[in-house]
Amino acid sequence: QKAGKQLCRFPLVTVRGVPLMCHIADNFEHIWAFTPDPSDLLIATYPKAGTTWTQEIVDLLLNNGDAEACMRAPTPVRSPFLEIFSPKPIPSGLDLLKKMTPPRMIKTHLPFQLVPLGFWENKCKTIYVARNAKDNLVSYYHFDRMNQTQPEPGPWDSYIHKFMQGDVGWGSWYDHVKSYWAEREKRNILYLFYEDMKENPRREVERIMRYLGLSLSDEVISQIVELTSFKSMKENPMSNYSCVPKLVFDDSISPFMRKGEVGDWRNHFTPEQSKMFDKDYKEKMKDVDIPFRDLI
Ligand code: A3P
Repeated sequence: QKAGKQLCRFPLVTVRGVPLMCHIADNFEHIWAFTPDPSDLLIATYPKAGTTWTQEIVDLLLNNGDAEACMRAPTPVRSPFLEIFSPKPIPSGLDLLKKMTPPRMIKTHLPFQLVPLGFWENKCKTIYVARNAKDNLVSYYHFDRMNQTQPEPGPWDSYIHKFMQGDVGWGSWYDHVKSYWAEREKRNILYLFYEDMKENPRREVERIMRYLGLSLSDEVISQIVELTSFKSMKENPMSNYSCVPKLVFDDSISPFMRKGEVGDWRNHFTPEQSKMFDKDYKEKMKDVDIPFRDLI
């Protein structure tokens, strides 16, 4: 059992400078060749930035707030993960997508330059969600502890350095948020922030609604805000990832729906770690002005 568990922690292999889970790297040419339909929607994020939350909001918007319709299947079935490849018999994202008819709601963690070109050629709508670096790091640390397919995070202090060096799945947070930021206007990408969603979920749900070209009633919007609260989603078996076996997501270590808060980094970083992180952050982010909040 123990050996089996360890076997599952797949190493990272670099694709065009970006470390990815080895099964993704091995199949990257198939992922790169994927051609979406122009009606497909892409939800892109760095891991742990609020992907699942956004997927749920979008699904409810597309289904006019119908809770039952959105409980038809777990999140990764309703909204396949483009690049995921796991050992058989687990279906890959591409296998799931093949069986669905567009419009499809597609999730990716790939940085902009690794997203198949067809998404841009076909002008697919794209929602990007970014989360402040320190909270994103904390969330990723706990996820890497519980997700038995990702490399061991190791001790907290060394994980901070791994994150800063981009030595984690899907690579550098800094490069990731910058890659979509640089393209957002040219590609009509809706660039959202987790902190904005927490501050005023209704405002952000309405923003997504307008981007999707929808106009739902105030009542339906309120319903969607309620159904996508952290509490509702944590209790919803179709959105809380309880569908994933414990051998893969060991929620006795840390639950997938962990805290859902802004500023939890303050419970993790020592003042010294925070200072060191801030100095490096300033240097890495000096060429852009992305309005991240709650970092200091
Ligand atoms: P925490 O680990 O900080 O709790 P992703 O879906 O990209 O993997 O992101 C997961 C993070 O988003 C987790 O953060 C999770 O708790 C949080 N999250 C999920 N649903 C949420 C919601 N409805 N409201 C706020 N945060 C949510």
